[in-house]
Amino acid sequence: MSGKFELHLRVRVKPESRPAFEALLREAIPVYERPGGIRVRVVQGLDDPNQLTEIVEYADRRVYQADQLRVESDPELKGLLARWRQLLVGQPRVEFWSDASAPCTPWPPTLPELRTDRLLLRAFEERDAYPAAMLCGDFEIAATTLLIPHPYSRDHAIGWIRMHHRAMIEGRGPTYVITCDGDLVGAIGLMVDRTHERAELGYWIGKAHWNRGFASEAARAMVDHGFDVLKLERIFAGHYAANPASGVVLKRAGMSHEGTQRRHVLRFGVWHDLEMFGVLRSDWLLTRAEVSG
Ligand SMILES: CC(C)(COP(=O)(O)OP(=O)(O)OC[C@H]1O[C@@H](n2cnc3c(N)ncnc32)[C@H](O)[C@@H]1OP(=O)(O)O)[C@@H](O)C(=O)NCCC(=O)NCCS
Repeated sequence: MSGKFELHLRVRVKPESRPAFEALLREAIPVYERPGGIRVRVVQGLDDPNQLTEIVEYADRRVYQADQLRVESDPELKGLLARWRQLLVGQPRVEFWSDASAPCTPWPPTLPELRTDRLLLRAFEERDAYPAAMLCGDFEIAATTLLIPHPYSRDHAIGWIRMHHRAMIEGRGPTYVITCDGDLVGAIGLMVDRTHERAELGYWIGKAHWNRGFASEAARAMVDHGFDVLKLERIFAGHYAANPASGVVLKRAGMSHEGTQRRHVLRFGVWHDLEMFGVLRSDWLLTRAEVSG
């Protein structure tokens, strides 16, 4: 895809925050437009003056992708975005518009690839839908996770991939496909909550690839990414008590057991206790210093 591309962010500003919002836009727009090839316009709703659409226009796909990477890692932009979110009622609604002036499918956001000894973690693409559906369709994967439906079709996978692209664009965290020697073996992601600078880690590995250390290797890489690049304060995860392999993975990713939420989940007619794990930035820094020193 080439040519101009627009991101439309529909927001509702808290009425009492309107002056602060306008001041923030005056400060933020030049910062946002600084790399070139990006233009930001703001359109006010006719019925409700606090209903605004912020239109971000990208010269081409390359500019858009570079911008996605910048939003992930630039502390100045992240600070401005955090302040922007606090002035809004609810979440912004995001739409993507192409040259044809019609809503279009979001381009896959660019994620920095993560490499471990054996694995390459990269952004999901629509071509991954079929292999993901084949692996995810296993009942044992659905049974030990919270949200994966069963049976699981290629359409579920496409919807899931698009949902994650949207989440990434909205700054709600990256999801990676896990590959080994070019084959898709699983998925892993962080669901980021910027209000509390924390994220929940979630993952699955296709059954044919279990017990080869893949989840542990990918989880360690994601925890490093969460602290090192996303600058989070805390990363946490929960696993069903009946799924001890996941507890092994979380401990290997540097997490400690923080407690048990009894009968917390009802999944496919079965009650589950949830074992909660977490790691703080300070724990991670300490471990890193010990390893390197
Ligand atoms: C949980 C899951 C991600 C583990 O993936 P994996 O790649 O097999 O994990 P790893 O190989 O890195 O580590 C698993 C460890 O648990 C151990 N293990 C497996 N079954 C176990 C059991 N019943 N009790 C205790 N340990 C167990 C394995 O032996 C392995 O340890 P080892 O390396 O010392 O042999 C995978 O089973 C999965 O995707 N399950 C379905 C989805 C899911 O549960 N996701 C997590 C939601 S919290």
